[in-house]
Amino acid sequence: MTKPILVVTSRYPKEVEDRIDRDYNARRNFNQLPFDQQKLLSAAEGADALFITPADRLDSKFFQKVSSTVKIIATYSVGFEHIDLEAAARRKIPVAYTPGVNSEATADIAMLLLLGASRRAYEAQELVRTGAWKPMSPDMLLGWQVGGKILGILGMGRVGQAVARRARGFGMRIHYSDASELSAEIVSDAIYHEDPLDLLRVSQFLSLHAPETPQTHHFLNAKTISHLPPGAIVVNTARGGLVVDDDLTAALKSGQVAAAGLDVFEGEPKLHPEYILLKNTFLLPHIGSATIETRTAMGMLALDNVGAVLNGRPAPTLVQP
Ligand code: DGY
Repeated sequence: MTKPILVVTSRYPKEVEDRIDRDYNARRNFNQLPFDQQKLLSAAEGADALFITPADRLDSKFFQKVSSTVKIIATYSVGFEHIDLEAAARRKIPVAYTPGVNSEATADIAMLLLLGASRRAYEAQELVRTGAWKPMSPDMLLGWQVGGKILGILGMGRVGQAVARRARGFGMRIHYSDASELSAEIVSDAIYHEDPLDLLRVSQFLSLHAPETPQTHHFLNAKTISHLPPGAIVVNTARGGLVVDDDLTAALKSGQVAAAGLDVFEGEPKLHPEYILLKNTFLLPHIGSATIETRTAMGMLALDNVGAVLNGRPAPTLVQP
């Protein structure tokens, strides 16, 4: 029996690659750079399914032209802002994503950023690595303690909840904002703010965990930053598009925001040059989900989705437009 054709736009952990080879005729993107739209459209000709990442941007033009043989698009991500869902629905192509499996790994990175920003890890690394480290002086690299401080979590989904669990272990007090208040079973004693601006007003630390949507795009801007307590610390592991970079870098320069820990950037892998020049930033290259366990689980879930649809069943984790 001939195997279905799967377009694979990136390279995945070995177990995932092995399953692809076992179950599909894979059309691979060997040079590992994101396919441009024309290449992806060509690869999709006659294909049964597409296995993509957020580096592949599927807009309405793509959906006007994509081959009618494509029965499912599986994205290797919990975010799906790179896919025009309405255009996919018009073509009746289901889109599946990978929720749930990346929460713990991403929460770990949020804590790394929170601690790295508050304890000036970038400057500390620089001292050690450049040989500029002098005998200890009591005022060297003073940071900000996290214990006893309020951590505001914007978006109390799975990742936000996992961050809250960790931050409690560091003695932080949790406040959050989301579309609706969650039960105490889920959020324990975390304090809910219906209005995100009320959350900002109390957030000595702010961690962003909202998806990027037209409503949340550029949520953190000069105006909203002005609601934060002076010297707040900002962490973003969600999406770069939640932040106006000119405004956050200005606040980092003035000290209105004391430090930022960022794993995601608007337009990544390019980032606002000021982030690199500033010393009070702790920057990572979008590695929230980058553990072998999580990246493998994401791949397996994406392939479960493809396999289900190609075998006439609903995708287990379908994005609902
Ligand atoms: C996700 O799953 O959306 C992560 O950000 C990786 O892209």
